[in-house]
Amino acid sequence: MLKAVILIGGPQKGTRFRPLSLDTPKPLFPLAGRPLIAHHIEACAQLRDLREILIIGYYPQTQMEGFVGDMQALYSSSNINIRYLQEFTALGTAGGMYHFRDQIRAGNPRAFFVLNGDVCADFPLQELRDFHENRPSSALVTIMSTEATRQQSLHYGCLVFDKNNGAVSHYVEKPSSYVSTFINCGVYVCSMDIFTVLAQIFHSRGQEYGCQGFSNGNGNGNGNGREQGHIKWEQEVLTPLAGTDKLFAMPVPNWWSQLKTAGSAIYANRHYLGLYKKTHPERLANVGTKHGEGDGSLICTVLPDVYVHPSATVHHSAVLGPNVAIGPGVTIGPGVRIRESIVLEQAQIQDHTLVLHSIVGRGSTIGAWARVEGTPSDPDPNKPFAKMENPPLFNNEGKLNPSITILGCFVQVPAEKILLNSIVLPHKELSRSFKNEIIL
Ligand code: GDD
Repeated sequence: MLKAVILIGGPQKGTRFRPLSLDTPKPLFPLAGRPLIAHHIEACAQLRDLREILIIGYYPQTQMEGFVGDMQALYSSSNINIRYLQEFTALGTAGGMYHFRDQIRAGNPRAFFVLNGDVCADFPLQELRDFHENRPSSALVTIMSTEATRQQSLHYGCLVFDKNNGAVSHYVEKPSSYVSTFINCGVYVCSMDIFTVLAQIFHSRGQEYGCQGFSNGNGNGNGNGREQGHIKWEQEVLTPLAGTDKLFAMPVPNWWSQLKTAGSAIYANRHYLGLYKKTHPERLANVGTKHGEGDGSLICTVLPDVYVHPSATVHHSAVLGPNVAIGPGVTIGPGVRIRESIVLEQAQIQDHTLVLHSIVGRGSTIGAWARVEGTPSDPDPNKPFAKMENPPLFNNEGKLNPSITILGCFVQVPAEKILLNSIVLPHKELSRSFKNEIIL
């Protein structure tokens, strides 16, 4: 029997994802029509002997219960249990795993996966598991790894490993100078003995703090601002395990990216739509040119790949795609053109409006003949292994870096206005055009 843990962090972790994280927790942001971590759950559910998925984070229970209920219902026939376990405070990338160790160990699983909730991939979990099973019995953790450019590797965990057997000899988290172009994807399979290592870290911390067990849960119980239960997986577990024949890496050539900024959502949306072609073609809208309402199999003119929620209303003369996801209850008027964008639930795009490289927030309205356009921040196609850059919002001169255009929830853009490379906070009613601005 196998289990999986999905680490989702908590509210203040999604700041680079604003304004989208203001109304939806980042782990629930929809990509290709499904919440970010529903893609993780779907990948886990493919494993025949996986029985439980534990989502660990410090979002309030109330923010996760609807999603968890939906997932439980979806996977109940596959006999997979899905639960949300809330940390009382941020316990770091390994503290939650240790705190909830009894829940992970219950039922005596053979191994468990750990997936960072903010990565996007096709998650080759079966290969990862097989790889781990074929390592020596000393193996505690196998890391899924991919290659990045030398420059970009500094933003990730970097690993040096034996190309023949995958044994990691050196692991450095976000090094200040070049270590390796092989990076940690934030996807792991762990043997159950990893809890012995976590226990040692936890108890050595207890001695350091001169106390046992958790502190009072207010984040400063140990006197130095950190919970005793706070454990950093990368620095406190992976780094010391390197070079001991207990840590392994499996390099994968597959697509992988992180969801850190809103701009990276457009890129991930495109890839998840692309994956549907292979895994769930029925989720994609039929492709073709619609000549009139009579063209029954087409919603409108669709350039691949496009996802349209069944409850959306799309006028037959609209043109959608490539790489568009339209959420529940969205209304799209005649002559609308949308490319490389995500339109969230209940938004309205009125007649003849153009939306490019943008995210339109829940319940927002864009008037007729408007133009909403952003600048993509895709990986450089000329650099092998390049990943998405996650540039800060502002450059050194304090100017907004070119970005996709984002409308927070319930924004109103009047007819015939132009919105370029701008970010609009929720509930704003715009009265004019904007370019390169954050509208607060
Ligand atoms: N439950 C819980 N509690 N989850 C947490 C906590 C916590 O206190 N802190 C972070 N997480 C979750 C985040 O929500 C995210 O999904 C994941 O753990 C990674 O945490 P980050 O702190 O955002 O790390 P990172 O993304 O900069 O780097 C990590 O991921 C990279 C791959 O995406 C590292 O593991 C890198 O080595 C790796 O390359």
